[in-house]
Amino acid sequence: MKKLFITRPLPESVLSAAREVFDTSVRQSNLPLSAHDLRWVLREYDVVLPTLGDIFSAEVFEDVPDPRCKLLANFGVGYNHIDVAAAARSGILVSNTPGAVTDATADTALLLMLMSARRAAEGERLVRSGAWEGWHPTQMLGMHLSRKTVGIIGLGRIGQAIAQRCFYGFGMRVRYFSRTPKMMEFDARRFESLTEMAREVDVLVACVPGGPETRHLVGADVFHAMQPHAHFVNVSRGDVVDETALVAALQDRRIGGAGLDVYEHEPKVPDALRALDNVTLLPHLGTAAHEVRNSMGMMAIDNLKAFAASTPLPNAVNAV
Ligand code: 8YV
Repeated sequence: MKKLFITRPLPESVLSAAREVFDTSVRQSNLPLSAHDLRWVLREYDVVLPTLGDIFSAEVFEDVPDPRCKLLANFGVGYNHIDVAAAARSGILVSNTPGAVTDATADTALLLMLMSARRAAEGERLVRSGAWEGWHPTQMLGMHLSRKTVGIIGLGRIGQAIAQRCFYGFGMRVRYFSRTPKMMEFDARRFESLTEMAREVDVLVACVPGGPETRHLVGADVFHAMQPHAHFVNVSRGDVVDETALVAALQDRRIGGAGLDVYEHEPKVPDALRALDNVTLLPHLGTAAHEVRNSMGMMAIDNLKAFAASTPLPNAVNAV
């Protein structure tokens, strides 16, 4: 049996599926792999199942010239923590778990859109504080989300799932910014300029992959273009946003509010951001549902099984 290393505890059903095919070792820590362990697993195991936070950079691959490991089957759709080109140069394939995360991540985007627009987190804190004096007609008024205009940055699987929820569920007008035009079964207007789209929408949602191409894609110019009542939501990667510019826009009340599931240096969240009441802060709950994590795990196992059977990987993101 090939030796498999799983870098975090996973749902038991996923582990037992792995053990059927691989001599499986499961790390019992929930923290990312250390610099030493990143190199050690490439030397000691035939295949590895890593995830967010396991930073397989070009340096890591260069430090292990003749790796035993031939596949990193990532748990998650986002793989900006792995230098896939450097992996390929080392003869290492990389796969991810697209599709398995789509609905849950889109639901999280709608959750944050509603929580930010309707000031839900603020309200929840008020009730918990014991300081709530009761309902009155102008209590904690927010923005009505229905029939507003949403601007979606990145219309891939997750972006399209958000668009469908907004259009069919909330009667919203859909606008999007993406490299290529996408066909939707309803009117969705594409923008070539992100700042132009930001000027027009009531909610702006980021759902592009992380990485050098999208780093700080949403910066001060975008927050300046947004309308003062408009809300910003991020369910992609923290470094897609210039977090300092976002904090300034929220502090100056230049935008109506924000809902964040990811952070530029997570799990570090700036004090300045945590001090604000016009931002909803979630701890990367995008796919935090039993069924979803189970299917993400099974999808990673399917890629491992295909590798063991020397058949094409269903979800390869590079080639060797
Ligand atoms: C994952 C995500 O839960 O899939 C992704 O890229 O961000 C989340 O859905 C987590 O990050 C593990 O990759």
